[in-house]
Amino acid sequence: MTRITKILLGEQDMPRQWYNIAADLPSGLKPPLGPDGKPIGPEALAPVFPMNLIEQEVSTQRWIDIPEEILGYLAKWRPTPLHRAYALEEAIGTPAKIYYKNESVSPAGSHKPNTAIAQAWYNKQFGIKRLTTETGAGQWGSALSFACSLMGLECKVFMVRISFDQKPFRKLMMQTWGGTCIASPSSETSFGRKILAEMPDTPGSLGIAISEAIEAAVTDPTGETRYSLGSVLNHVMLHQTIIGLEAKKQLQLAGIKQPDVVIGCAGGGSNFAGLAFPFAADKIHGAKIEIIPVEPTSCPTLTRAPFVYDHGDTAKMTPLLPMYSLGSGFIPAPIHAGGLRYHGMSPLVSQAVKDGLMAPMAIDQIECYKAGILFARTEGIIPAPETNHAIAGAIREAMKAKEEGKEKVIFLVSVAMDLWIWLGMINTSPDNLLNTKCLKLK
Ligand SMILES: Cc1ncc(COP(=O)(O)O)c(C=O)c1O
Repeated sequence: MTRITKILLGEQDMPRQWYNIAADLPSGLKPPLGPDGKPIGPEALAPVFPMNLIEQEVSTQRWIDIPEEILGYLAKWRPTPLHRAYALEEAIGTPAKIYYKNESVSPAGSHKPNTAIAQAWYNKQFGIKRLTTETGAGQWGSALSFACSLMGLECKVFMVRISFDQKPFRKLMMQTWGGTCIASPSSETSFGRKILAEMPDTPGSLGIAISEAIEAAVTDPTGETRYSLGSVLNHVMLHQTIIGLEAKKQLQLAGIKQPDVVIGCAGGGSNFAGLAFPFAADKIHGAKIEIIPVEPTSCPTLTRAPFVYDHGDTAKMTPLLPMYSLGSGFIPAPIHAGGLRYHGMSPLVSQAVKDGLMAPMAIDQIECYKAGILFARTEGIIPAPETNHAIAGAIREAMKAKEEGKEKVIFLVSVAMDLWIWLGMINTSPDNLLNTKCLKLK
């Protein structure tokens, strides 16, 4: 029989609703707290986000309709293909079947536009004219610039200094879509100036960039600016579930009832949650699925940090969120996966891990790069450094299946692409990373 390499859905098959795991979490979700330690109400978030998104943030409704106009924008690249990674499977000689959801086909190259489109649309509906945001990898800043250009909104992006220096073309992408990109910490905000005075050579962090972006939004005297976050929050996880909902339909078309293992990389949690939450719903109802978020060993939020109430940003402007956190002042090592350098984790993902629905794994940068290079040389897509973590996790599991002689194990990763990987590698340790001998995994 001819091998089917990719499973495609038509536009008419796009999910019409997002899945909200807050309705199903076994222990429920703890509320965010204000500075007085008491739960905050939706109005406390109003200076920062539009009320239509705040309603989604606090919703416990299981299914939330996706507005037709948003579906129209998403249809520019969705549904995304589900690929069977035959070449990767052959290269590592595993009996496991490896599938991956290809989010690299979005205009910005990752899953980030799934929520950027939704957030820009809801802000536009609410009468907002301008959005500010942070970006680590540059993927989120590009995605929001792209979405704002479609909706006619202005977009200002504070990009973590180290990524700003490592990834000059991400800034060009943002500018092409009409966005403004500034290295963070910057002299544009009082918090940025404070950090620059204390630590002039800091590589920056997502926590600092978030503080700057929130400050820039709430200090706009016109009241027409809001802040937009690319991960962590409940409404962001919600918008990303379109990935897993499509994947479920595609697996069924491939004749697979359910995967044995679901894997994604986790920075703030959104691509992982997007892929994994629809499968976690099945697990809550009895399905046997291993669900694995993968993070860098240098920023081990889920594997090493305590579950606490902590701020989402370094200046402590956000409410206290219930999550695994390395501390809001934590500045991770300047690894190339800029999107995974976040001190905290989505409260929904954190609670799901705490409830035992998911088992996190931490992998170091070199193993991830090797996995990414092998993926590029077998499947063709040059994966983003963040995605390399998911691929490395999938390869580990596939090798385990090989050792155990298990034939029918299915893994899913959500793949993004980012060309800078080559620049980053050449700048760091070419001998280690470009030596093909180190790729012999068989
Ligand atoms: C390609 C890619 N994957 C993953 C991440 C991590 O964020 P999240 O955990 O929200 O998906 C980022 C963040 O910038 C990213 O650019």
